[in-house]
Amino acid sequence: MEPHAHRPVRVLTLGGSLRTDSLNRALATLAAQEAARLGAQVRHAQVGDWPLPLYDGDIETTAGVPPTARAFGEVLTDTDAMIIASPEYNASVPAGLKNLIDWASRLRPQPFSGRHVLLLSASPSMVGGNRGLWALRVPLEHLGARVYPEMFSLAQAHQSFDASGGLADEELTRRFVATLTGFLELAEAALHYPCAKQVWIEFLGERPDPVVDRIE
Ligand code: FNR
Repeated sequence: MEPHAHRPVRVLTLGGSLRTDSLNRALATLAAQEAARLGAQVRHAQVGDWPLPLYDGDIETTAGVPPTARAFGEVLTDTDAMIIASPEYNASVPAGLKNLIDWASRLRPQPFSGRHVLLLSASPSMVGGNRGLWALRVPLEHLGARVYPEMFSLAQAHQSFDASGGLADEELTRRFVATLTGFLELAEAALHYPCAKQVWIEFLGERPDPVVDRIE
């Protein structure tokens, strides 16, 4: 019997904005509540909980990966899955979130590898920040995260929450819960079938060479 079979899925819910009144923070909070209701063991956080300098190779060479990035890596290592609610900045990933990913990617073992990730976004715009999520998939998939195919983007988010922090629209609520349910079911199934795990190779197309190989 697989040793993790009877424990709940451990999920990190992460708001990807630094802003206090962030719409994505509200969406991540809602995801945390819903995931807990669905039986997951949830840890809820914001990207600003791990303040970091902009990634700089000189800092890494002289002082190593900062302790805050190490702390984030430890949190990731202790989870099976991550749900990120990220803003879209100029059709791409906000710098604070990308910087956290870049710093944490320098850790070994590389903590994104094998993590299941669900991407959410919220924006006042009509497309809900969905283009930013396509950009966010790229570094995460590069790092070996298993990014769930379905995503959830909340359009006109400034008008979409009710007074208790839920989604005002019934159909959207149904879709939100269905997306989370499917994702958590997959993450739970992966706990039971660890043989599905693959090695992580940083530069897949490169000729094998022990000097540059970074394989886990
Ligand atoms: C934005 N915003 C934005 N919205 C969008 O739908 N597509 C976009 O490309 C952008 N680009 C963008 C760039 C920058 C620099 C800022 C500051 C904002 C608007 C953004 O969606 C809005 O401010 C959200 O409220 C930001 O998310 P939080 O902080 O509320 O979670």
